[in-house]
Amino acid sequence: MSTFPRGWFVISWSDELAKGDVKPLRYFAKDFVLFRMDGVATVLDAFCPHLGAHLGYGGRIEDGGLRCPFHAWSFGTDGHCKSIPYAKKMPRNTSVTCHAVREFNGAVYMWHDPEGAGPAWKIPVIAEYGTEDWSDWNTNCLEGVKTHPREIVENVADSAHFPTVHRTEVSEFENEYVDHKATQRTKGVARPPKGGVDHFEIEATYYGPAFQISHMAGYLDSILLMAHTPIDETHLDLRFAVSLKKSGPKTEQFAQFYAENLRLGFHEDITIWEHKVFRDRPAICDGDGPIGRLRTWYRQFYEPRG
Ligand code: FES
Ligand SMILES: [Fe+2]
Repeated sequence: MSTFPRGWFVISWSDELAKGDVKPLRYFAKDFVLFRMDGVATVLDAFCPHLGAHLGYGGRIEDGGLRCPFHAWSFGTDGHCKSIPYAKKMPRNTSVTCHAVREFNGAVYMWHDPEGAGPAWKIPVIAEYGTEDWSDWNTNCLEGVKTHPREIVENVADSAHFPTVHRTEVSEFENEYVDHKATQRTKGVARPPKGGVDHFEIEATYYGPAFQISHMAGYLDSILLMAHTPIDETHLDLRFAVSLKKSGPKTEQFAQFYAENLRLGFHEDITIWEHKVFRDRPAICDGDGPIGRLRTWYRQFYEPRG
């Protein structure tokens, strides 16, 4: 079994990557360079085929190419070397690997497959995103959380942690697993860290192992986008974004409060995740959610497609 699952992973919010930006990226215990040349986000392996400079540290977009900071070899968005300023003849083997990238819903996604195969499913476009009735994303990234992706995904089935960790009473709880999708439907009453009482109803679906869209009805209707991306075997970045359905002045006031509550809510989980062990054979009781089914579903992303 490989260390990292196969799937789409969020690597940046769209508004963090301006035209002309070049950034180093470290995910899946590997190094990459992320850049935006002609409006399109691109990810290449980080190291120059010449003498190995990292293209993300000092690389620049110039003359329609990504220019290496060491000897100025220039690469296209397909990873091919297009020019060497001081060479009369182009040598062979001058390409760097180019990775599948998509961008919509205000996020940039990269496909990762330990076997190197291409994308196996699509992430849906959120119809509400960018429309007049919904607020812009309030985005967050919790960097370097010390845990393994499977701990986060297990929340889908873990109905019993809500009252203890999140002061939330769950009255209805249901899971559905279909192909690469895992859906959690929950109804309950939340008592957020910053006060108040909220009767809510959530439908949250994972599309693959690391990207979840939640539709939530409560005090205000909201959409939550949550994604985690492994940095290495023991750390990951956790991103989340919230959009609220506009309903007069209360939306603005509530947006900040809501995002802060969510952030605090994640921190409640994180304290548990960062210090726990993973039990292969946990002692389970009849009141627990379908943790076994969740694990069976999650395993598919680690198994070779062969
Ligand atoms: S190392 Fe990149 S051009 Fe020499
Ligand atoms: Fe939780």
